[in-house]
Amino acid sequence: MSNNRSASTASAVVGLQWGDEGKGKLVDLLASEFDAVVRYNGGANAGHSVVVGGQRYALHLVPSGILSPGVLAVVGNGVVVDPERLLEEIKTLSERGVDTSAMVISDRAHVVMPYHKAEDALREELLSPAADSGPTQTKQVVSAIGTTRRGIGPAYADKVQRATAIRIGDLLNPEILRTKLEMICTLKNSIFSALHPGEPEQFDAYELTEQFSALGEQLRPMVKDTAYLLDDLRHTGKSILFEGANATMLDVDHGTFPYVTSSNASALGIGPGSGVPPQAVTRIIGVVKAYSTRVGGGPMPTELFDEVGDGIRTRGREFGTTTGRPRRVGWLDLVALKYAAMVSGATELCITLLDVLSGEPELRLATSYAMPSGDTDRFVADGILLGEATPNYETMPGFSEDITGARRFDELPANARSYIERIESFVGVPIRTISVGPDREQTIRR
Ligand code: IMP
Repeated sequence: MSNNRSASTASAVVGLQWGDEGKGKLVDLLASEFDAVVRYNGGANAGHSVVVGGQRYALHLVPSGILSPGVLAVVGNGVVVDPERLLEEIKTLSERGVDTSAMVISDRAHVVMPYHKAEDALREELLSPAADSGPTQTKQVVSAIGTTRRGIGPAYADKVQRATAIRIGDLLNPEILRTKLEMICTLKNSIFSALHPGEPEQFDAYELTEQFSALGEQLRPMVKDTAYLLDDLRHTGKSILFEGANATMLDVDHGTFPYVTSSNASALGIGPGSGVPPQAVTRIIGVVKAYSTRVGGGPMPTELFDEVGDGIRTRGREFGTTTGRPRRVGWLDLVALKYAAMVSGATELCITLLDVLSGEPELRLATSYAMPSGDTDRFVADGILLGEATPNYETMPGFSEDITGARRFDELPANARSYIERIESFVGVPIRTISVGPDREQTIRR
């Protein structure tokens, strides 16, 4: 690897809200222009749904680029991989006729183990208000995060703990895997039995070694040092698209902490999650819904609890791809969006689900927050303090036309165009793509 050879630059697609912005559709739309599509964060908590030729695909761990023939789909080191789920997803795609031979997984990606899922569920139960025993009985400042229970947080926690982590590379070496698991299972079992005295030990190092070595053997042909692979691609003029999972507002450092996921889900995660240096990424497309949604706990200043919110939820089919949970729905929060575009360094925006707003007599945009200390146009990146924000709205006239057939910006009703232009001027980043329906064709490029 050398820094003085010229290398191609890369692009990225990243969510600017709390996830589910429609990144999968955009990645799928762009993928054929790239040689590789790379996931750099998150795990099976993500749910990218893509509609191709009337067929809907729900992807969790496999990069959306897989649906474009000839595009290399890379799972980078920053992803936490549940091997069983990944293999199941690959199998399901193959059975539906998708060529999955161009898949590569980093040997340095971390593995989500069964005890991570158990820990995730246990922690959520202990934090939930219904918990009537244990250390959280006192008044809680932080309640349940509302995680997807896919073991994401505990897997990242073990990565940072180091000694208790298992990486994909370890699955290819049963001796190392067994030695690590003996220590890890002793530790995990003692923690679980302290919380559930009298229950039998849950995790057996021998069984887990057998199970995960077998999964490792199935993954073996796909496992590579992806930092070198991506560097080689860049130095042979190949183009790379990074696919963000979850979203900027769920970023563990810059989102609504502690109501976030456990990875750098903004564009800032690309470097550490892939080994590609930050200056390589020159085009960052921030994806944002025409309104807001959120799944799980945590503040959402513009949340709607009325029939307007119900209507948007129904028309937008706002139910989780991963968990099926109904999503919380609200007006577009421009304070949050401008902040997310700043943190992720968005060079352009893609607005999705604009068609869902059709029929609303008026549209509201939050342009500042009323806080106990006064009004502010700056985002409050703290999940507890943000709970005190009341949005100040700007109101615009809505549109009632069916816009799902529009293919050019000037085919949109005047009120829809004004709405887009207001978002653009507030955020200060050009809106280059507008999605007016789930299909590839239902897209306006400006
Ligand atoms: P975790 O990532 O499962 O730990 O969940 C943490 C929080 O992030 C929860 O509120 C989840 O609902 C949310 N979350 C994680 N991934 C996604 C996603 O891809 N879309 C929407 N919400 C997500």
